[in-house]
Amino acid sequence: MKTKILMVCLGNICRSPLAEELLRSKVDPKKFQVDSAGTSNFHIDAQPDERSVDVAKKNGLDITHQRGRQFKTIDFERFDHIFVMDNSNYADVVKLTKSESDKAKVKLILDKLFPKENVDVPDPYYGGESGFDKVFDLLDKTTDVIAKELA
Ligand code: 4NP
Repeated sequence: MKTKILMVCLGNICRSPLAEELLRSKVDPKKFQVDSAGTSNFHIDAQPDERSVDVAKKNGLDITHQRGRQFKTIDFERFDHIFVMDNSNYADVVKLTKSESDKAKVKLILDKLFPKENVDVPDPYYGGESGFDKVFDLLDKTTDVIAKELA
């Protein structure tokens, strides 16, 4: 059975689609399945934000096949690891947990780079292009660590 990893942000159009594709590009597809979701219902079935599409493309990744979906309680059963982009996502996801084992699956994604420092992946939605470069760089580095740990 594959190990399943879910990346979560608010809209599922900026940060988590990048995290999904970055990790997918670094793990064995025969052993791992990677998906993403948003805590909100703002962008269900939407394509990723054009600025995320562009920064991914610039770095050799295609995220245009992804579509927004909302995080659901059943995702705790479907996934082994749930990485959230910021503390607000963490609070929203943890609110839906029904057990300690659900809660243990939820981690701030930047804890892998900055352990115990509670660092958020900044929400780039209301900013300019450079915010997306910064987000890509952070997610690239932290998914390197995640991929190594999973392997
Ligand atoms: P994301 O960014 O959580 O990284 O996908 C956002 C996308 C959309 C909104 C906020 C953040 N929004 O308010 O629509």
